Amino acid sequence: MIQEKLNKTTLYGRLGSYEGISIFATKFLARLQTDRQLGRFWANRGSDGIARETLLLIDFLCANAGGPQAYNGRDMVSTHRGMGITESDWAIFFEHAAATMDALELGQRECDEIVALISSHKDDIIELSPPPIKRGATIERELT
Ligand code: HEM
Repeated sequence: MIQEKLNKTTLYGRLGSYEGISIFATKFLARLQTDRQLGRFWANRGSDGIARETLLLIDFLCANAGGPQAYNGRDMVSTHRGMGITESDWAIFFEHAAATMDALELGQRECDEIVALISSHKDDIIELSPPPIKRGATIERELT
């Protein structure tokens, strides 16, 4: 009875519960890691660390989609601080999210809700881009 209710009303249930979200997260992460621009974030990481991150991402998505799982990972600011994730990285991240949702043939409602869920963490994850360089400006800093 409870399971039936979860299936109908929560994003978690509509995505196919833990199993469906695991498939989404695994395919999505695999795409991110092999992307030409984003691959740098996962370069030289051990397979055990990546496996751990995958499980944490699954729990995070389940918990935020209304599932019964607890997320025991770090918060989004601590996790991503110092990685230098830019607006451009963020845009590519979404292209892969969209491609993964397409491949899994998710419904429009589910896609919109995943996008909203991910978007709500944007300010915690991307860092300020460096200021634009003014060409021709006089360099006033002394070089040592
Ligand atoms: C361009 C965007 C992003 C990049 C490049 C990125 C990259 C990474 C990397 C490299 C890690 C591993 C960190 C480590 O083990 O020290 C990580 C962990 C994680 N990320 Fe992201 N991430 C992005 C966006 C997001 C978003 C939008 C979410 C959630 C909606 C998210 C959720 C997580 C979670 C749950 C973990 C595991 C936390 C933990 O280790 O305790 N990430 N991310």
